[in-house]
Amino acid sequence: MSQQRPYIVGNWKMHGTRAMLGEVRAIDRAGQRHPKVEVALAPPFTLIHAARKEAEQIGVGAQDCHPVDGGAHTGDISPAMLADAGAGFVIVGHSERRTDHAETDELVRAKAEAARKAGLGVIVCVGESEAERDAGRAEDVVRGQVDASVPTSAGAVERLSVAYEPVWAIGTGRVPSLADIEAMHRAIRERLLAIYGEDGAEVRILYGGSVKPDNAVEILGVPDVGGALVGGASLTAESFYGIIRAASGENVD
Ligand code: PGA
Repeated sequence: MSQQRPYIVGNWKMHGTRAMLGEVRAIDRAGQRHPKVEVALAPPFTLIHAARKEAEQIGVGAQDCHPVDGGAHTGDISPAMLADAGAGFVIVGHSERRTDHAETDELVRAKAEAARKAGLGVIVCVGESEAERDAGRAEDVVRGQVDASVPTSAGAVERLSVAYEPVWAIGTGRVPSLADIEAMHRAIRERLLAIYGEDGAEVRILYGGSVKPDNAVEILGVPDVGGALVGGASLTAESFYGIIRAASGENVD
């Protein structure tokens, strides 16, 4: 199993104006205090450049990208533009993108490949809906998403993470049982090993969906949970810090 640092990524979604740059600085200080944790933040596009300038240590990335380098695509942002703005990684295939913008696995894979070509790290999101879990199909659905969404070009495993985010757990305060998280991460790992061979062991599998300071220790302690993708609890340095500290394995400051 990989010896990589836990990866704690804040997804600010459509939240944040320059008034929140103070939170970026505070989150950056938290990251500096816990060098055994890899901390990153994905603010809205409009804050990437400013956040990169404010933050000395943490990663700064984007929440989406377009799959081509440039052209007649009004309102879209290419991976090269993200890199130019200071982004080091991009999240692709978040369930809110898949739902709100009808993104398919095929499109998510194309975005991941384009991001890689631009030198960005990639976090590919997967996760079942509540109806799919209730129907006993959660693992099949997620296996299918992994198979069809992750990049497969040469070297694709470098700086690749997969985030397992059950749709019904996002922003709801509900989380799967630790046994269900473990089973799903094991299923995802099996697919990654099938796709990439032994290199698949190096891909970090993050859990996302209602991760908070008070459940982070137990979730991050589940086998093969390599970090967390955090929405609501990443919006203030105070709550995000609780998760960073949980990931550091320290109980006290
Ligand atoms: P949440 O969001 O932590 O607010 O549930 C997670 C996500 O959507 O990445």
